Amino acid sequence: MFPIDLFCLHPESLAPCDLYKKTEDGEFVFFAQKSMQINRMVKENLTENEKNKIYVQDDDIDFYFNYLNSELMQLVKSPTAKSEKKAEAVYSSCKVIMQKVFEDPRSEFVNHACDLIVPTVDLIISNDNATRHLVNLTAHDHCTYVHSTNVGIFSIALARIFFGANSSHDLQKLGMGFFLHDLGKCKIPLEILNKPGALTSDERKVINRHPEEGRNLLSESGYATREAEIIVLQHHERDDGTGYPNGLNGSEIHPYARICRLADVYEALTSDRPYHRKRTTFEALKLIKEEMSDLDQDLIGCFIGLFA
Ligand SMILES: [Fe+2]
Repeated sequence: MFPIDLFCLHPESLAPCDLYKKTEDGEFVFFAQKSMQINRMVKENLTENEKNKIYVQDDDIDFYFNYLNSELMQLVKSPTAKSEKKAEAVYSSCKVIMQKVFEDPRSEFVNHACDLIVPTVDLIISNDNATRHLVNLTAHDHCTYVHSTNVGIFSIALARIFFGANSSHDLQKLGMGFFLHDLGKCKIPLEILNKPGALTSDERKVINRHPEEGRNLLSESGYATREAEIIVLQHHERDDGTGYPNGLNGSEIHPYARICRLADVYEALTSDRPYHRKRTTFEALKLIKEEMSDLDQDLIGCFIGLFA
């Protein structure tokens, strides 16, 4: 059974597949059948407590993600829907698919992730108000899938400002790399990934494999683009050559990867981690501007504009 976010089932739409709820005893019971209207179903048959415990069968996951994508496409393009609603739907859907892809990076889920990134990028490109809501929604959490969702959103918003709204850069292709920049972490043992104390040099080497692991997973999925591969592979490179995996120097690092690194650093600073408390937006931006000399000052200027 795969848990779904009820928020992603849009009112007035039809259930994409049979839905189940989990009882207090941990048992799954049938809740609603495919094609039932969601508004009535939610209002009449769920307690507040149950709303967090809706599931679909693993065999139906494809129906669910296809539904999410088409609903999201419609919502983002709707001239009447509020920006806030669009942002909330996009954020919830992104978190759902990123969670799935990190649990199970098979090509079908990478494909669904790429599909859902399309309306997300469309929204950021076309709607400043919604972008502002999205930036405000980014929950500060240590989970890899939340981190990836947040970095994806910050990076696309930053790329749009940095390159200009009418640039020839394909933000859809970049989006795939931004959202999936840490995909390789699903190949890293959890006891190393979540270790609270300092890492040994061997453990550090294992973690540092994640850019190459991620690039390989993307290639194997058949959905990789050159832009996404560059971002995934280079997002931990640093101008002074001390980054990984290839120790590239300043001019060798692609601007796409620099954008991702800045968003990645900011997101890490503003989240609780085992080794530091989370900073406020102001503290994190000040630290980045004043103390992180290896980050591009032009990019930092654009990034600060996102929060103005
Ligand atoms: Fe990373």
